[in-house]
Amino acid sequence: MQEGKTALVTGANKGIGREIARQLAEKGYTVWMGCRDAARGRTAVDALVAAGLDVRLLEIDVASDPSVTAAADALGREAGHLNVLVNNAGVPGFGTSPLEESIANIKDIYEVNVFGPIRVTQAFQHLLKAAASARIVNVSSGLGSLGLMSDPASAYSKFNNLGYNSSKTALNGVTVAFANAFRSSGIKVNAADPGYVATDLNGHSGPRTVAQGATPVVRLATLDESGPTGQFFEEFGAQAW
Ligand SMILES: NC(=O)c1ccc[n+]([C@@H]2O[C@H](COP(=O)([O-])OP(=O)(O)OC[C@H]3O[C@@H](n4cnc5c(N)ncnc54)[C@H](OP(=O)(O)O)[C@@H]3O)[C@@H](O)[C@H]2O)c1
Repeated sequence: MQEGKTALVTGANKGIGREIARQLAEKGYTVWMGCRDAARGRTAVDALVAAGLDVRLLEIDVASDPSVTAAADALGREAGHLNVLVNNAGVPGFGTSPLEESIANIKDIYEVNVFGPIRVTQAFQHLLKAAASARIVNVSSGLGSLGLMSDPASAYSKFNNLGYNSSKTALNGVTVAFANAFRSSGIKVNAADPGYVATDLNGHSGPRTVAQGATPVVRLATLDESGPTGQFFEEFGAQAW
């Protein structure tokens, strides 16, 4: 069942994820828009279908083992292979001092931002291995960069969120671990920093557009054979770990 190129984007009903789905569909991929809420997902899918794009709804809550398993089964039946996985779904955690943020809150953030990509990548690995030269992109953040966060001269270091920032640092570690694990099967795994993008995640405070934010993600999702693996990029080049 190895026909057209397929992609799954988690958290695709809005924000950067919806734009990643749109850009991949414009490049000719059949894109499954992973959404945890069927009604919100249907609205997003219908809008892109109306624009002539080949996108489909896949219900998936990345924080739930049964949901992720059911989604992998459904995609296996419908497509049989997966060329691109974008682990985009994420939740924020801003505005509380690291000295006050509760463990419960940090665990909730990690469940989506760290365990979500692990859970999804593990559950879909057989479909990725069934595709030629699959690509995985983990949507990280400059706030997960230890280099930037530990530099008092960097604007990033002013956004000192314990749970969110360290969840993205952990996701960078997950990216390297999966890159090494998939290296022999030719699957490339990289992390992308979209930059500071105006979305619901930050109350639309970012200066960048979703189109700009999606750009480094789509580039890494469509790398050719000479492309890197186990690396971290923003739009204009390598991002500091
Ligand atoms: N915006 C920025 O400046 C920025 C910068 C760096 C990195 N990022 C990262 O970019 C990614 C996308 O963020 P965004 O800015 O586009 O935020 P957003 O507009 O708030 O979108 C987040 C998406 O994730 C989904 N989601 C949350 N929890 C989920 C779960 N358990 N299962 C499935 N989907 C779930 C949301 O679904 P619902 O609508 O159902 O909640 C929504 O579709 C995130 O990983 C974020 O950390 C954003």
